Amino acid sequence: MTAAIAAFRPPSPPPFDAAGGPSPFRAIRYFRTFARNPLETWTDEVFEKPIAQAGLAIRRVLVVSDPESIRKIFSTGAHNYPMTRVRQRILKPALGEGLLTTEGEAWSRARKSLNAVFTPRHVSGFAATMLRNAEALRDDLRARDGETVGVAPLMTRFALDVLADSLSADRTMLDREQFADRLSRLMSVAGVPHLFDLVGLPGFVPRFGRAASTALIGELKASFRALAAKARETRGGGEHEARDFMDLLLDARDDGAPAFAEDEIVDHLLTFFAAGHETTARSLAWTLYLLSEAPDIRARLEAEIDAAPLNETPPERWMDVLPFTMAVVRESMRLYPPAPFLARQAAADDEIGGAPVKAGSVVVVVPWILHRHRAIWPHADEFRPDRFVGDAAGGAPKYAYIPFGLGPRVCIGASFSLQEMAIALGVLLRDLKFEPAGATPPMPLMRVTLQPSTDVPLKVSLRRCDA
Ligand code: HEM
Repeated sequence: MTAAIAAFRPPSPPPFDAAGGPSPFRAIRYFRTFARNPLETWTDEVFEKPIAQAGLAIRRVLVVSDPESIRKIFSTGAHNYPMTRVRQRILKPALGEGLLTTEGEAWSRARKSLNAVFTPRHVSGFAATMLRNAEALRDDLRARDGETVGVAPLMTRFALDVLADSLSADRTMLDREQFADRLSRLMSVAGVPHLFDLVGLPGFVPRFGRAASTALIGELKASFRALAAKARETRGGGEHEARDFMDLLLDARDDGAPAFAEDEIVDHLLTFFAAGHETTARSLAWTLYLLSEAPDIRARLEAEIDAAPLNETPPERWMDVLPFTMAVVRESMRLYPPAPFLARQAAADDEIGGAPVKAGSVVVVVPWILHRHRAIWPHADEFRPDRFVGDAAGGAPKYAYIPFGLGPRVCIGASFSLQEMAIALGVLLRDLKFEPAGATPPMPLMRVTLQPSTDVPLKVSLRRCDA
């Protein structure tokens, strides 16, 4: 009889010890921990209770992990739960009238027009771009057989290139190096939660580091404006086939009139980059890390890829022929949700799961907690993709697995990123093997996205002689 192979249990931050010391010391410790990594401020309790209070006495928040209450906040009762003022204060200067940072009528008008941009047909149209970029990355890595590579920055660059090519099919129109550099600098300074935001100081109190982001935002927006002008010029007034996001946004109509003014197009594009490149990149990097530590799972995934008719299947359909690969991706997003923290602020008094919610108070749904909740997931901290085989909810109740959020504000780019991940993994893992290389495992840090503490160094080697 062969012994069952133990499932891999990736390391995660220890729970916050709520007990230690008198309250001023506890508060200092809490703030220092928060500044280092907000994930380390969660106590054991939040992983066990459906509804829990968290934070310090001066600023308690309701942490909701009860699936029906989650449904109420994001779906059936969403009108009472807009985005928090703190979040808007952090993101609005960068993302302006983009989808993430609008509410009410402005949001619903923009969402309707953007839904028509992210149709299955349009998303399928981006598959060739994804394939070309994945093959270019694979070719670079083939030349580095036996080397240790930092998978996290590679995936960030890959996802950025995919979005940049999807934004403008003409690759010469954007200075890629300069754009990548500006965007990565912006992501590292603009979205970091500041302690002033946490304690709710008003927006005019300067946040250190925000001045740098204002200049970067101006530069990025200027390059989008120049792109829009060029695209208008090249298209002329006649009939044309939409080839990229720029075309789709310029073509979008609302009651027959252009749906978006130029400034809105710029904000939407920046929002797509802010919301779509790092999230997808994190998911790919964490997936490769998990696979490197779970050779039995990797072998099953490789067998699936080897047997799948990828050459005869258009890339937009790879998700259908790689079901186990997609189960691995879903399990990876369970353990490492790229968007680890969702928050809303009650507009009027309410009640959530029996707990009173006062107008103005913040309720949080934390995929990092929800996806590892001990009352919901058996073997919550273990990497077990089988739970997602044949079940996109992973065997959990509806609304307990929400890597893309839910309700009217569910991620508009979900199918874009799932398609991108299927193509990237299909291309890379057909020819290459990624194995552990670093002595220190990457720890998840809560930033704008769930960032690994290291570059995720993995040893890359050729899988096939003909590769
Ligand atoms: C693995 C990849 C991705 C993950 C995990 C992810 C996750 C999420 C989540 C959780 C939300 C909801 C936020 C909330 O309710 O507070 C969201 C919203 C959004 N996402 Fe994504 N996202 C991903 C990829 C993308 C891509 C590729 C794009 C665009 C190209 C995109 C664009 C957006 C936009 C515009 C919104 C705002 C939707 C609205 O408020 O109506 N995302 N995403």
